[in-house]
Amino acid sequence: MVREAGSYEFDSDPDTELELKRLQRQAAAIEPLERRILSGAGLDVGDRALDIGCGPGLVSTLMARLVGNDGAVVGVDISETLLNSARALSAKEELGNLQFQHGSVYDLKLDSAPFDFAYARLFVQHLAKPLDALQQIRPYLRPGAKLCIVDIDDGWLSLVPEPDVYARFHERSVAGQAANGGDRFVGRKLGWYLQHAGFTEVDVTILPLSSAVFGMDAFLDVAVSPKWKMTAEPDRDQARNDYEAMRSLVDDPHAWGFLGLFVATGRIPEA
Ligand SMILES: C[S@@+](CC[C@H](N)C(=O)[O-])C[C@H]1O[C@@H](n2cnc3c(N)ncnc32)[C@H](O)[C@@H]1O
Repeated sequence: MVREAGSYEFDSDPDTELELKRLQRQAAAIEPLERRILSGAGLDVGDRALDIGCGPGLVSTLMARLVGNDGAVVGVDISETLLNSARALSAKEELGNLQFQHGSVYDLKLDSAPFDFAYARLFVQHLAKPLDALQQIRPYLRPGAKLCIVDIDDGWLSLVPEPDVYARFHERSVAGQAANGGDRFVGRKLGWYLQHAGFTEVDVTILPLSSAVFGMDAFLDVAVSPKWKMTAEPDRDQARNDYEAMRSLVDDPHAWGFLGLFVATGRIPEA
């Protein structure tokens, strides 16, 4: 049976504290790039914006700062635990223009539509039915509004020198994620999904990320560590050990890591 939360069910994580910290580190590492992505995609001061699959709200918080007090942001997620963390962050930052709502993208019931902009970061890769999800989001966007999806594609992930264990590690995690409905190669399909969901002016850009920018430690943390948890039993412990073995790259000054981050945008046709 395919899970509503696809391949990312936070509350089933064996160590939610650790995973939350990883999401926080990931958001901090990508934040400068994220600002450029959001403004390049058209997020503007005064916008009403939606952050779908917002998780702990780190991106929603950034969006709330970018739209300012004349705008508003609503973050939506299926995990109450993550939403509690998001609400605590928003309260700490005293953001009066940010709200969070519990719900599944497959059954959206938002009170505060229509939105000018919607964002989905590292979310669509986990969905068993991405097209259904996009079709659910569409009615909440005004004519002319933009949707921006940011996600990965493991075809654009590489480590040099490639650790001996990488091939089996990669293969098992891809299969494990797919078994729960996720898709580790979703990046290349995002433009197709947007077009089939009726968006116009669809554009896809691949942003290169590398260990030279983040440092190998952060690169592995962001791009490779989530993969061991996607591996199905009985291979998960092995996958974790494989990941730990690959971390020896941190001590190799000549090692490289590369990742393509897919940024796909589309617009709701004007009426
Ligand atoms: C990898 S996390 C990304 C979180 C956040 N966008 C970020 O980049 O930090 C994926 C998020 O999708 C949420 N999610 C999974 N399935 C969902 C669904 N059907 N509806 C809404 N949220 C969902 C999960 O709870 C999780 O917070």
